[in-house]
Parts: sequence; structure tokens; C-alpha cells
Amino acid sequence: MLAACSWPDEPDGFQVPAVDASEALPGGATTVGLTPFASFDKLVANYPEQDKPHFFAGRALAHQPWVKAPTATDARDGLGPIYNARACLACHIRGGKSVMPDNDQTPLFGPLVRMSRVVDSEAVPVSKGVIPDPVYGDQLQTQSIALMHQLRKQTPLEIAAEGAVPPEAYAYVKWLQQSFQYPDGSEMALRKPQLDLRYAAYGDFAADTRFSLRNAPAIHGMGLLELIPQADLAALADPDDVNKDGISGRQNMAWNARSQQLEPGRFGLKANRPTMDMIVGSAFANDIGISNPLFPDQPCSPLQPVCLAQTNGNNDAGFELPDDLLQLVIDFSRNMAVPERRNLDDADVSAGRTLFYQTGCQLCHQPDYITSDSPDYPHLAGQHIWPYTDLLLHDMGPGLADGRPDFDASGSEWRTAPLWGAGLFGQVNGAGHYLHDGRARSVEEAILWHGGEAAAAQGRFIHLSASERQALIKFVESL
Ligand code: HEC
Ligand code: HEC
Repeated sequence: MLAACSWPDEPDGFQVPAVDASEALPGGATTVGLTPFASFDKLVANYPEQDKPHFFAGRALAHQPWVKAPTATDARDGLGPIYNARACLACHIRGGKSVMPDNDQTPLFGPLVRMSRVVDSEAVPVSKGVIPDPVYGDQLQTQSIALMHQLRKQTPLEIAAEGAVPPEAYAYVKWLQQSFQYPDGSEMALRKPQLDLRYAAYGDFAADTRFSLRNAPAIHGMGLLELIPQADLAALADPDDVNKDGISGRQNMAWNARSQQLEPGRFGLKANRPTMDMIVGSAFANDIGISNPLFPDQPCSPLQPVCLAQTNGNNDAGFELPDDLLQLVIDFSRNMAVPERRNLDDADVSAGRTLFYQTGCQLCHQPDYITSDSPDYPHLAGQHIWPYTDLLLHDMGPGLADGRPDFDASGSEWRTAPLWGAGLFGQVNGAGHYLHDGRARSVEEAILWHGGEAAAAQGRFIHLSASERQALIKFVESL
């Protein structure tokens, strides 16, 4: 819990809570083990036996590739016409993060690029939260159903010249290397991505369009995060920093297409989606090109007529994915389990736990909650969970800023990343890449990029001794 009277310059002012037995099982009774292997797409441990076919039906829809319309198998067509990947778990491999290429010759696949224009905020449509690029929209789709793209025989520009539907562009990342020096003299190599878009096939982007590189986050424990009581998060928010701890978390206000109103945002790297319905519906429409009742449009913008003219996979109601199948994937996504803690008895891990609190990490990475009641998911309700996030927006300073507002989030605000499972990203699927754009190759690099509201905590971290820093990192990796 937050210390009532904690000052940035007084590490001793932060209280270190006694170890609680429930910390070993961060997802409460839903927590799973690491055998036979670590994965974030395992079913929660206490899932009702009779509902298991339901989970696996949703998993199949999230895992098997979608195909171009029309096909004989009506239920799985409608891919694209432009898209980023054919299936949810193609990016969130085993439910984990996506892989950020380490060279500038490998096109982005799981990570994606968001776009919007920075214009008069009055003009932002209330249901969109951003002003999209007029031609390319608000997400760059780097794949298309065109045969010559599928075969990788032509570039997007050549495909466009032949009148077929090209991918919008190919995206690559160049890494700018820099080095960080600790007060004790030791050095750490850091890298920062520079986006490189090639073969943009639909003409120029608007002059004021901003681009934001996003690595896919891990998606375990989502149903539990959704059940954190709204009042708990509202109580942690301190927009005007009344308690003067230098940290002013805010809730984003994001559009809910079901209730047709703005609601506190929880999901997405800038908390721009209020519910799992909305994040999964938008992923289908924008990432895979599968229209659904929440996001009924194809990913083509009004200025992409060849894209709009392609055959769609719509059913009689006008959607490629009906509500009942969408619901299966939402339920699957809510029930992917959080793994158990490791190395709890290690001396470094317990010393690191103390340092985590003393440096003030918990001011944003709020350790624990009790989930609220849930008539639909009684097995997820009333659990003592340890996600280490306040799900609030924080200004992280110019080093991490993307300059791209989204609903109420500014161009330098990000949602506090949950830390449960943070030591397992590499083990789950090889994608040990941290922060919103995957620039950090370790927990240590991720901490060093913390600025803005987190500058005081980062400052206390770098002034620890080398062995204390390693202990703190080992604690984070045990989560
Ligand atoms: C092209 C890769 C890609 C595909 C395909 C994809 N995602 Fe994602 N996913 C991402 C990225 C990138 C983000 C972060 C987006 C952001 O906030 O800008 C994300 C965010 C999420 C989140 C929010 C996690 C959080 O911590 O708030 C969930 C849940 C999610 N995706 C589920 C899905 C589901 C379900 C599907 C399939 C319907 C899917 N995704 C398809 C890349 C992908
Ligand atoms: C002011 C709030 C704040 C404080 C204090 C803070 N963090 Fe963070 N942390 C964030 C936000 C916001 C992000 C996401 C930033 C991004 O993606 O660019 C983040 C991301 C991270 C990540 C990357 C997780 C991932 O999955 O990519 C790690 C690791 C982390 N923090 C550890 C720490 C540690 C350790 C401390 C204490 C030394 C700390 N943080 C203090 C807000 C904070």
C-alpha cells in the first residue's frame, strides 16, 4: 500500500510491507505452474471443468490462421484485405510478447505502428480518441491478401501499380546505440528505435502524422485485471499530485462501443480500451482485418478504394465475426493464467523486494488487489492478486515519449506495465523485450529508461550499489 507521507528524496519514508504468503501465487487460485514448460496461454487452474471446451474453442479461434474471403469454410474467412497478422497468437506467441527484430533488414511482424495527426483536440471524434492519417488510418497494416505479397514476389509499390491491394508499407527498425553511465562508473549499453517505413504504397502520409512503435505485450491475467475494482484504481489516481510524491497517475477515459460512452481505460499500452470486449474487438478488426459487431468496419480508409472493393467475409448481419464467436475469444483471453513466482527463498530476491519498495517502484507498480465479484466468472472473483500495476497513465519523460496523444493520454504518458511474469518473457517465447516499443533487452535497461514521474525512482535505483541493483532486478525477475 502507498505510504501516506512519502517524499521523493527520502527512501526511508517508504514502508516495506511484511511478506504475505499470497505473493507466491500472483493470480490467487487461478495461478498455474511452469511444468511442462512456461507459457502465458495456459488455462487458469480453477476453471470450471464443464466449461473447458468453451476455452479451447476460443483458443482455436485465436490460434488458427484466418483466410481470405470467400472460402467454403465460412466461419474462418474475411482476412484483411490489409492486416498485420493472421491470428492473435501469431503476435502474442504463447500469450507472450512479440519479437522485436534486432537488425534493420527484418520487417516488423508482431510489433506494429500506430499513427495519428496532432491537430486541434476539439476535432477528435469522441469514439476514436485520435485523428487518423487521412489515407493510412490509425494503424499501419503491413500485410495484404494480394497473391504477389503472399508469395513475396513484388513490393507493395509494384502490387499497387498492377491494381491489386498492396500492404500499406513495410516497417523496419534501426537501432540507435547509446550508453548509460552509473554514478559508480559502470556502463550499460542502451538502444532506441528509429522507425523506417519503406514502399509506402498509398502515397504520402499527412505532414503532421505521428508514428508510434508498439511491441505486443503479454496477455496473461487479463480477466483478473478487468476485475480490479474501479474504486481502487480511482483511489490510486492523483492527477494534481496532492500528496506531493512527484507522481500523478491518471485514468484515461476511453470509448466503450457497447455502452456508447467514455469509461476509464485499462487495456492497451496507453490504456485506450476500457474492457476486454473492446481490446479484443479492435484487435480482430485492426490487426487481422476481421470486422465484428464492436468494430464493424474493414481496415481500409475511405481513400483506399481498391481495398474497399475486395470481397468481404460478412455474414447476413454484416460482420465477418459474429458476436458469439467474438465472445469465445474474449473468454479465452480472460482466462489465460498467471504463472507462479520463482526463487522466493533466494536471499537476493528477498533483499531485492525490500529495495523495490525503498526505491519507490510500488508508487506506480501497485503490488496487490482483491478482485471484485463476477457473476460470469466466479472463479476469477475475490482473488488476492499481485500484478504490480496501478493501470494508470504516467508521464515517463521525453526518452520514452511518442508524441502521440490517445483519448486523454498525452504523447509522453504510458500505462504502468504489469510486472507479473516479467522474468519469464524470454523463456516463454524468446521475446525478452521490455517497454512499449521493445527497446529494452533486460529489466535493467527498462528501469534505466524510466524518466518523468519515475525519474526519482530511477535516480534512487542508479545510486544503489551494483549488488543491490542486481538484487532488485532478481526480485522483478522472480515475479
Ligand atoms: C500484429 C500483431 C497482433 C495481433 C495479430 C494481435 N495483437 Fe493484441 N496486441 C498487439 C499490440 C502491439 C498490442 C499493444 C497495442 C497498443 O496498446 O497500442 C496488443 C494489445 C493487446 C491486449 C492488451 C494487453 C494489455 O496489457 O492491456 C490484448 C488483451 C490483446 N492484444 C489481445 C489480442 C487478441 C485476443 C488478438 C486476436 C483477436 C490480438 N491481440 C491480436 C499485437 C497484436
Ligand atoms: C511513475 C511511475 C513508475 C515508477 C515509479 C516505476 N515505473 Fe516501471 N513502468 C512504468 C510505466 C508507465 C511503464 C511502461 C513504460 C513503457 O512501456 O514505455 C513501466 C515499465 C516497467 C518495466 C517494463 C515492463 C514490461 O513488460 O515491458 C519494468 C521492468 C519496470 N517498469 C520496473 C520498474 C522498477 C523496478 C521500478 C523501480 C525502480 C519502476 N519500474 C518504477 C511506471 C513506473
